[in-house]
Amino acid sequence: MDKPVLRAHNVVSGYGKLQVINGVDLHVNEKELLTIIGPNGSGKTTLIRTLIGLVEMFEGQVFIREKEVSHMRPHEIIKAGIPLGYVPQLANVFPSLTIEENLKMGLFVKKWDEYYLKRIEEIFNLFPILGERISQRASLLSGGERQMLALARALMPNPEILILDEPTAALAPNLAEDMLQQVVTLKKTLGISIILVEQRAKRSMELSDRGIVLVTGRVAAEGPSNELLQEDTIRKLYLGVREKS
Ligand SMILES: Nc1ncnc2c1ncn2[C@@H]1O[C@H](COP(=O)(O)OP(=O)(O)OP(=O)(O)O)[C@@H](O)[C@H]1O
Ligand SMILES: [Mg+2]
Repeated sequence: MDKPVLRAHNVVSGYGKLQVINGVDLHVNEKELLTIIGPNGSGKTTLIRTLIGLVEMFEGQVFIREKEVSHMRPHEIIKAGIPLGYVPQLANVFPSLTIEENLKMGLFVKKWDEYYLKRIEEIFNLFPILGERISQRASLLSGGERQMLALARALMPNPEILILDEPTAALAPNLAEDMLQQVVTLKKTLGISIILVEQRAKRSMELSDRGIVLVTGRVAAEGPSNELLQEDTIRKLYLGVREKS
C-alpha cells in the first residue's frame, strides 16, 4: 500500500522571476487520496501544475513510478506511456461539442476505435448521467454535470494518477459533497491514486488518506489526515474549526 507512484523532491518553481514554490517534497502512494489544502494564493495550483510540466521548475525532481519526468511537458509524459489525468481548476468542457465528443478529446493520443468503445462503456458505468445524454451538447449541462464531464474526460485514458484542482469550486454545497464522494468512489473502484486540491479543507481531509498544508509555497504540515484533523493549530488555522468538538 505505501508504495509511492509519484514523488517530488525539493520543488522550486514559479513564473519568470516570481518564485512561488519554495522547496516542496511530496509523494502520493498507490491507491491513496492525498489532499492539498492551504490559503488562497499559497501555490497549490502552481505546485500541481509544476508536477506535470505546466509551470517551469527552477529546481527539484519529479518521478512518476521510477521514471523521472522533471521538465517533461504533459504531452511528453502521456506519450511516454505514463498514465496521468489532470482536471484544472474551473475545468472547462467544450460547450459546443457533445458529451461523446468531449470524452473523445480525453484520448487525444490514443485511437478512438476499439479502446474507445470499451472505455466509454466503463465511463458511463461510473457516470450514468453522461451516458443518458451522450449526444447532447455540453452547454446544456449544469455546472456540476460539466465538472463531472471534465472528470470523466480525464479518466478516458485510464490514468493511474489523477490530479484534481478544486473540483468542487463553484458547486452548491450538496453537489460539492456528491463530487467529493465521487472522488472517493473512483479511488476505491478504480484503485487509482488521487491528488486533490481543495478549498473545502475539513471535509476533504475527512475523506482523504493523507494531507498536506501548503502555506506561501512551503509545506507547513503533512501527515495522515486523521492526525491533521486532530491538531488544534491546523484545525483553527486551516480547517476553519473554531473549537475542538
Ligand atoms: N500565470 C501566472 N503568472 C504569474 N503569477 C502567477 C500565475 N499564476 C499564479 N500566479 C501567482 O502565484 C501565486 C500562487 O498562485 P496559485 O494559483 O498557485 O495559488 P492557489 O493556492 O492555487 O490559490 P487558490 O486557492 O486561489 O486557487 C499567486 O501569488 C499568484 O498570483
Ligand atoms: Mg488554485
